[in-house]
Amino acid sequence: MAAVLAAAAVRARILQVSSKVNSSWHPASSFSSSSVPTVKLFIGGKFIESKSDKWIDIHNPATNELIGRVPQATKAEMDAAVSSCKRAFPAWADTSILSRQQVLLRYQQLIKENLKEIAKLITLEQGKTLADAEGDVFRGLQVVEHACSVTSLMLGETMPSITKDMDLYSYRLPLGVCAGIAPFNFPAMIPLWMFPMAMVCGNTFLMKPSERVPGATMLLAKLLQDSGAPDGTLNVIHGQHEAVNFICDHPDIKAISFVGSNQAGEYIFERGSRHGKRVQANMGAKNHGVVMPDANKENTLNQLVGAAFGAAGQRCMALSTAILVGEAKKWLPELVERAKNLRVNAGDQPGADLGPLISPQAKERVCNLIDSGTKEGASILLDGRNIKVKGYENGNFVGPTIISNVKPNMTCYKEEIFGPVLVVLETDTLDEAIKIVNDNPYGNGTAIFTTNGATARKYSHLVDVGQVGVNVPIPVPLPMFSFTGSRSSFRGDTNFYGKQGIQFYTQLKTITSQWKEEDATLSSPAVVMPTMGR
Ligand SMILES: *[C@@H]1O[C@H](CO)[C@@H](O)[C@H](O)[C@H]1NC(C)=O
Ligand SMILES: *[C@@H]1O[C@H](CO)[C@@H](O)[C@H](O)[C@H]1NC(C)=O
Repeated sequence: MAAVLAAAAVRARILQVSSKVNSSWHPASSFSSSSVPTVKLFIGGKFIESKSDKWIDIHNPATNELIGRVPQATKAEMDAAVSSCKRAFPAWADTSILSRQQVLLRYQQLIKENLKEIAKLITLEQGKTLADAEGDVFRGLQVVEHACSVTSLMLGETMPSITKDMDLYSYRLPLGVCAGIAPFNFPAMIPLWMFPMAMVCGNTFLMKPSERVPGATMLLAKLLQDSGAPDGTLNVIHGQHEAVNFICDHPDIKAISFVGSNQAGEYIFERGSRHGKRVQANMGAKNHGVVMPDANKENTLNQLVGAAFGAAGQRCMALSTAILVGEAKKWLPELVERAKNLRVNAGDQPGADLGPLISPQAKERVCNLIDSGTKEGASILLDGRNIKVKGYENGNFVGPTIISNVKPNMTCYKEEIFGPVLVVLETDTLDEAIKIVNDNPYGNGTAIFTTNGATARKYSHLVDVGQVGVNVPIPVPLPMFSFTGSRSSFRGDTNFYGKQGIQFYTQLKTITSQWKEEDATLSSPAVVMPTMGR
């Protein structure tokens, strides 16, 4: 009964729609030079100031100015967040699927209306260009739109009359409290891969955004609340290692979605699994673009440059390695020319093609990897290490960099660089190129550029990578499919979003029932309209 009443309250809450964000609450808008704004926790439907004595500074990557502080939530606050998720779960799971769908339908509308606002926060905290930040929100929005089709996605299966009077059917049911740990490179898209799918299935969710870029998640949480999601169905905490360990260990958390580095992913997979949780972990990558000499040259060079240097290379799907096959080697000078023409600037400046890296440490790491190329015998054809961006001299900028004559045993090939650096290898044949790609431990994405269908077919068939593009440089699947990274790029057994996403966030209950025909109530047809109380 309590659950029924609570579900009714949820429904009443869902029907109140508020549409516009009051922009006075989030970190960027409250910024003034005298006071550094603090990022709030979102617990039980309230944005609350943390009582923590440990705070992390947030810097604008284009200037390194301090723009905010984010707390490392205390144990008590994290406990309160999980309890809130746990309390909200029974009523939310009992809320009809149509009502949950309504919340998501309103949510996709509110995200659309506030897309530019979210993108501005991303550019401020993460550094990517505004256009790219809008793309970040848009790709997440597509997952929200897909989550709206939950009524089809969550269908179970039935097998009638397996024996006399006996039927078998299965339901998909939510797991309980699920948690997400997101990286810094896609502040909107990746959180949106997680909580909307989990919640539309009836789970409640604990989100830990990257402590470097929390703003977008906070705004997304506000918009979800405005869409009618009941208090406690989504809670947001902040922090680093302690928060991660807390999530891996807490007995009330049933599943963890993680995207980020290999080291963290392996750790979370091991630690979470040991505590009996489902874990899906999307991790590092080294994505190869194989260029055949029969490719459309114009198109291929543009695609390569965009996919290698866009978002300053801080995409796990960045095409960071080119393999030029045969005569395609001759295109290298033109590739360099195109890369040179890209405009490096602060993300909010008009015309910027790529912005800064996330932090001074990231810049140093990328520069060291470029140095290693020189030391190990590669050639730097274009060097972005000493770039100066006018007006932004303190930013973490690295310009487009191209390293050629790279061999598979070099450090710059083996490590994921995560910066605007394209390493170029050369082979004589397609078979050699395939061997290189398959020998690499990562299997996130790959692309082949060719005008020959048979070559494309052969490559797609033989390459052991989860996502393949044919003349498409960044083959991130749309949400009706799943994000299918493989080998060292993924741990777990069900991928993000699409049908696999629904499987990850639900469990099956199978019912075998027998209703004997002879037990059917014998009643003579009622010819008179039944009257209550007779
Ligand atoms: C692959 O790329 C995506 C998107 O950039 C990233 O989030 C993810 O961590 C990477 N790895 C896998 C296996 O998906
Ligand atoms: C890579 O292998 C070649 C040939 O086996 C060798 O000469 C070279 O020193 C190696 N380079 C590195 C960086 O290990």
